[in-house]
Amino acid sequence: MKLDIRWIRDEFPICRQKFPIPGEAAPQPIRYFDHGASTHPPRAVLDAHREFLEKYYANIHRGHHNLSMIASDLFDRVSETVARYVGADLHKQTIYLTTNTTSALDLAAYAMSHEDGVVLTSVLEHHSNDLPFRARGETVMVGMCEDGTLDMADLKKKLADHKVKLVTVTAASNVTGWMPKIHEIARLAHAAGARICVDGAQMLAHHPVDLKPNDPAECIDFFAAAGHKAYAPFGSAFLVAPTSFMDALPPYRPGGGAVLAVTEDDVVWTTGPDRHLGGTPNIPGAIAMAKALDFLSDIGLDAIRHHEVELTRRAIEGLQAMDGIELYGPPDAESRLGVVSFNIEGVHHDLASAILNNEGAIATRNGCFCAHPYLHLLLRVGDVSDLVDRLRSGDENAELPGALRVSMGVFNTEGEVDFMLGWIQRIRDRKWSGTYDLEKRDYCKEVYFEFQGIRDVSGPAGHPTARV
Ligand SMILES: Cc1ncc(COP(=O)(O)O)c(C=O)c1O
Repeated sequence: MKLDIRWIRDEFPICRQKFPIPGEAAPQPIRYFDHGASTHPPRAVLDAHREFLEKYYANIHRGHHNLSMIASDLFDRVSETVARYVGADLHKQTIYLTTNTTSALDLAAYAMSHEDGVVLTSVLEHHSNDLPFRARGETVMVGMCEDGTLDMADLKKKLADHKVKLVTVTAASNVTGWMPKIHEIARLAHAAGARICVDGAQMLAHHPVDLKPNDPAECIDFFAAAGHKAYAPFGSAFLVAPTSFMDALPPYRPGGGAVLAVTEDDVVWTTGPDRHLGGTPNIPGAIAMAKALDFLSDIGLDAIRHHEVELTRRAIEGLQAMDGIELYGPPDAESRLGVVSFNIEGVHHDLASAILNNEGAIATRNGCFCAHPYLHLLLRVGDVSDLVDRLRSGDENAELPGALRVSMGVFNTEGEVDFMLGWIQRIRDRKWSGTYDLEKRDYCKEVYFEFQGIRDVSGPAGHPTARV
């Protein structure tokens, strides 16, 4: 069950990345706690990506030369890898390879816009699992509980009160890491005659996924996720969707590759993965994404999950032990992924994140995490319509409420969590050493600009003289 963390860290070049810290004699190793935004590729993924570019670079399905045939074969096998990883059944489900989770969810929203009824969503969702559905039809919000979890009683009520065609829900929140019981929701949705769409962006690399395609009650009809949150490069993602339903729809993005025949006044569209996504896909990105999923499977998702629960528990308990920390979402580590958002009383989240970066080489994220309504709920800010009006009218001083987020990944260690907690404590105790211009707010930029032009930031020459 225990991960070979030394081996894993050795596989990730980013674990050897160091940044100069003003006042420190030597550059400091980066402590990366921004896996919820994007994850770094390990060596095996970088190698697969590079190998394709170096040895097999060719377009797919359109040539009978060796390169094109190898490229096609590698690309076609991506669907099999994705299906194996998420437990999809390629006899009844198709994997559509998109560029990011948002585009995958938009394809699901497009598909469902051909059906009658409303889509149930909630403020728990990342904007990408809300706005595409709002843009393509009527949505109804399911209520939330005080602790930031979905109100299941309200979900049942909304399913009974409306003609619902789809429930769209995240597998795990990118703000609190909280994981709704997606198969229970699937059961309720299906019983009400609706489909379910699951946003798997956060979950993909951190928890086993089983779409249960052969269980009509609990199966997940649509599942979207992206490689850039699963240790693959940017630009590759996927949607799993029901084949017969998708094949009956007009193409989402008509174009080359999506057709069987074209005349001046007629088109025969193809079926399967190419029907909806005309144009050349991100071939090396998809191949690298498949390699990343294999990399995670080889380590074992159960072992990864176990490791990250331990880190999350340590982080949560450490934060709970400090005064003046407001932690969001349910506190038990088992009910969430390794995503922990909080605020330090009296310290703006921008400033806290900048101090962590500038003085501790700790990478965190802060702000509203593309989940504004969820932040409003968690921070109990009440009615924000005045704020929204000020933003709409261009008021530069209007600011949405936010938080600081640490998110764990497979290569994080207990030592890194303790180091991060130590810095949170220092910030809480107001014991940072830099001088920050509280008016300016752009705290990181100065240091960042110092890095410009410095190629080898790990050497002494890369030591910046930034004023912090
Ligand atoms: C839960 C969730 N859904 C969707 C997205 C959007 O993902 P992408 O940037 O791949 O479109 C994110 C990104 O942070 C996310 O966390």
